[in-house]
Amino acid sequence: MPPILYNLKELNPFLKKVKPSKILIVTSDILENKLKWAIQEISHTNVVVLPDGENAKEWVQIEKILKQFTKIGLDRKSIVIALGGGTVGDVVGFASAIYLRGVRYIQVPTTLLAQVDSAYGGKTGINFNGYKNQVGVFNNPLAIIVDIRFLNSLSNDQLTDGLGEIIKAGLIKDSSILSLLRKEGSHVFQKERILALLVKKSIAVKQFYIRKDPKEIYLRQILNVGHTVGHAIELKYKLSHGKAVLYGLLKELAVGESLGITSHTVKVNFLVILNKLNIKINNKYRTDLESLYHDKKIFHDSITMPIIEKEGKTKVVTIKLKDLRKLL
Ligand SMILES: NC(=O)c1ccc[n+]([C@@H]2O[C@H](COP(=O)([O-])OP(=O)(O)OC[C@H]3O[C@@H](n4cnc5c(N)ncnc54)[C@H](O)[C@@H]3O)[C@@H](O)[C@H]2O)c1
Ligand SMILES: [Zn+2]
Repeated sequence: MPPILYNLKELNPFLKKVKPSKILIVTSDILENKLKWAIQEISHTNVVVLPDGENAKEWVQIEKILKQFTKIGLDRKSIVIALGGGTVGDVVGFASAIYLRGVRYIQVPTTLLAQVDSAYGGKTGINFNGYKNQVGVFNNPLAIIVDIRFLNSLSNDQLTDGLGEIIKAGLIKDSSILSLLRKEGSHVFQKERILALLVKKSIAVKQFYIRKDPKEIYLRQILNVGHTVGHAIELKYKLSHGKAVLYGLLKELAVGESLGITSHTVKVNFLVILNKLNIKINNKYRTDLESLYHDKKIFHDSITMPIIEKEGKTKVVTIKLKDLRKLL
């Protein structure tokens, strides 16, 4: 498993030891300005920018970034640094995997969501043909740098996106995360110490499953709680990943309850947390079952998805699609 360094200041000494021929920072057009302080702090030879957000996860951007790699003269001794949220991390991880059959890259996640979730586990890729993460590879970074200072410039809305994945980590494995959220409520947005603790606890949950099942053969599927429904509405309604996951969690808890697997108190407590955090979930979305057919967890007429039993306990179940359709 790649090392996690908890301060951006540790990156330069790390790079010095690796002695790369070139260090390329890839970030988004917006972050190039917003995160000037970080770009200045990282020793580098070049900076390349992607369009901000989900627009980066398009095939045409892969072609563009590979052309930049060639122009800059990246070789297999070079290092690429992904400075940004999950979108930058996904694109950089994928482009680095296929360029020269693999150049090394480092994740510097700058959103709460990326710090607790997307930067770990080596899943990289882009959206394709209107479907989320349809094309990609497993490609682990050389290291992940988690610096809490990045969270200072995020809006409450952007922090909420990350809270979706933090609540998910609490639901599937570590219920102390949920207790902490219930206790602190919306104070979590202001208290750096609490956020740092939540980040560490959520990373531990993700790392637990990745270590047990690096290629998502079985157990790691548990991390997909909330994502079956989440992915089925994310692109359709142009939602942020975090908001889609929060909606997905709510719907999937209801599905689990109807199946007699999820205890009723889980959804009740989930709603208490949302209320305390002032998070409102829109209920107007219709799950796009067509896009579920493109979900990588569908075989024939059934889907395999994780369902919460109680806080901190989850199991993977196989459900007939026609039954799922009735429950959504
Ligand atoms: N690979 C994985 O395992 C994995 C897991 C979860 C999610 N994802 C992917 O991650 C993406 C979502 O990631 P995200 O929520 O980080 O979205 P994002 O990368 O689009 O970032 C969201 C916004 O935050 C801004 N931003 C980033 N850092 C900032 C900072 N420090 N200060 C101010 N603004 C900042 C960006 O400019 C952007 O507009 C989705 O495409 C999703 O599919 C991947
Ligand atoms: Zn997610």
